[in-house]
Amino acid sequence: MINNIVIMNRVKSLRNVNVSGKRVLIRVDFNVPMDAQFNISDDSRIRAALPTINYCIDNDAHFIILVSHLGRPKNGYDERYTLKHIQKRLENLIQKRVEFMDDLETLKSQNVQDCAKRIFLLENVRFNEGEKKNDPEFSKRLASLCDIYVNDAFGTSHRREASNYGIADFVKTKVAGFLMVKEIEAFAKALEKPIRPTALIVGGSKVSSKITLLSSIMPKIDKLVIGGAMSNTFLQALGYDMKASLVEPDFIETAKEVLEEAKQHNVSVYLPVDLVIADSIDHPVVIEVAPIQDVLDGFHAVDIGPATLKLFSEVIELSNTIIWNGPMGIYEKSQFSKGTFKLATTIADSYAYSIIGGGDTADAVEKAGEKDKFSFVSTGGGASLELLEGKILPGFEKLDIKEEG
Ligand code: 3PG
Repeated sequence: MINNIVIMNRVKSLRNVNVSGKRVLIRVDFNVPMDAQFNISDDSRIRAALPTINYCIDNDAHFIILVSHLGRPKNGYDERYTLKHIQKRLENLIQKRVEFMDDLETLKSQNVQDCAKRIFLLENVRFNEGEKKNDPEFSKRLASLCDIYVNDAFGTSHRREASNYGIADFVKTKVAGFLMVKEIEAFAKALEKPIRPTALIVGGSKVSSKITLLSSIMPKIDKLVIGGAMSNTFLQALGYDMKASLVEPDFIETAKEVLEEAKQHNVSVYLPVDLVIADSIDHPVVIEVAPIQDVLDGFHAVDIGPATLKLFSEVIELSNTIIWNGPMGIYEKSQFSKGTFKLATTIADSYAYSIIGGGDTADAVEKAGEKDKFSFVSTGGGASLELLEGKILPGFEKLDIKEEG
């Protein structure tokens, strides 16, 4: 069976086309976290786009237009989401002037000859209602600005929107940027040609959000480690009383099915044996470690316990490929972050090929100070999850295909 990664790996990359003298539009994902004063708190996604941008500069693109969304604006312009917040950081990173364009028309009114060697950053593409609707008229207007379309927005590649999907119908040359290629190759290494045994570590709050992943990835893994609040549902399914912990009652049967499926695929499953429990999540007074059979009345599971950490660490030490998606507890609160952070250190220090899904897990390993030690940290949370689920990401679907041979 031909799988999603093999198909996505067939797309033509920027390296396969000549950008010299061409108007190049690059869809990037500059949807970065910011504080209340709009200071960027993590610029990894901007940095991840630099190889593609610099390649186009160094190979004499006539001009470059950078297109991105930021946040989820609802009704047109919203100061919180303007890409002006990104402009300075981008200029510092590429050491070049970046001109801000409020809308497509401003860009269109420029005389093309006068644009040589210029770099434009277009205002948040989601301020236009055609973007989310994947409106063909809007796609066409975007497409009219360029000769070559480069999609390098891996983090957005699970969306079907005008600038990362529809536009490709109206541009003759459409290729993947270097980040898109790098992401696919990193996942291919873990899923297509892994050095077994392979362990999947899943966490996060909901079984419901990881169900497709769990059933589709089973044939590709040897060990399944389940932590975070989603493990509560599994433990409850096994007969433990999780008291006030977050449990998805509607997914208890599903959890049983996952355990059964694992058995059929000869996958060993590891669940917590002890937990950090607290009397309140927001204002804890009592925080304790309890074996899974002794969760106290009214208490919530908030992290994995030390015995669980030891168990999970042994699994990690005996694995050669590790895929990690989802934290082990409420890591955003320092009292409940130990399990996730220590697990990050254990994986980072192991000899395994380690790949991290984006989103919360990427944020957690960054906060643990271990990010640079992982083999690969994806820039896409939702996108990497859908890729692991076996889906072909829409952002790849319409790009040109490499010639054979
Ligand atoms: C992300 O942060 O996951 C991407 O930038 C996509 O953003 P979205 O979930 O708002 O589409």
